[in-house]
Amino acid sequence: MILKEEEHELRGKKILLRSAREDDADMLLDYLKTIYGETPFLTGDPDEVRLTAEDEAAYIRRSVAAEDALMILAFVDGEYAGNCSFHGLSDRRRTKHRAGIGIALYLKCTGFGLGRLLLQRLLQIVREQGYEQAELIVVSDNARAIHLYESLGFRACGRIPRASKYADGTYSDDVLMVLPLE
Ligand SMILES: CC(C)(COP(=O)(O)OP(=O)(O)OC[C@H]1O[C@@H](n2cnc3c(N)ncnc32)[C@H](O)[C@@H]1OP(=O)(O)O)[C@@H](O)C(=O)NCCC(=O)NCCS
Repeated sequence: MILKEEEHELRGKKILLRSAREDDADMLLDYLKTIYGETPFLTGDPDEVRLTAEDEAAYIRRSVAAEDALMILAFVDGEYAGNCSFHGLSDRRRTKHRAGIGIALYLKCTGFGLGRLLLQRLLQIVREQGYEQAELIVVSDNARAIHLYESLGFRACGRIPRASKYADGTYSDDVLMVLPLE
């Protein structure tokens, strides 16, 4: 799906939202490598980002062409800040009412309301597309994200113990969260 450019304002900063374009591929790869190093709450380490710019461009092409997926990029005063996305979890009749949600911002762009703005806009679109529930997985120690998701109506509905193992030998659980959209 495509989201045409739209402008918002947040605490005196100009926020531009739009869907990804093929020529964003290099920027998105740099972003992935950086954010994987900035937080323990994503699914891997920077050296595990093995996509090429062509892989990323192909991913963007598929996302733009798909009716059941959208990646929204956010720019703060013209600078890329991060993105959030949804994808239909399945095209089968029994499960096509479910949308999976993801979000990650550069560390320097966290903590001033951008995550809330992005998720509110994304969830509005997910609702308009007719999905009946939004689902996500969050690391149990990610208090900021869990607070934000709960404030938007998500509720924890399950837990996978020791879902991630870190280099120092410690583990964290994954929490499954669901937001009914009806
Ligand atoms: C999680 C993330 C998307 C949230 O976006 P954000 O822009 O930082 O969040 P916001 O500023 O919109 O809102 C954060 C909320 O959490 C609260 N908060 C901040 N730190 C907190 C903490 N340690 N414990 C509980 N709540 C906290 C804030 O007060 C705010 O709540 P409020 O609006 O009720 O005051 C962003 O921090 C991020 O990308 N982090 C790194 C990647 C990541 O963790 N992605 C999620 C993977 S599931």
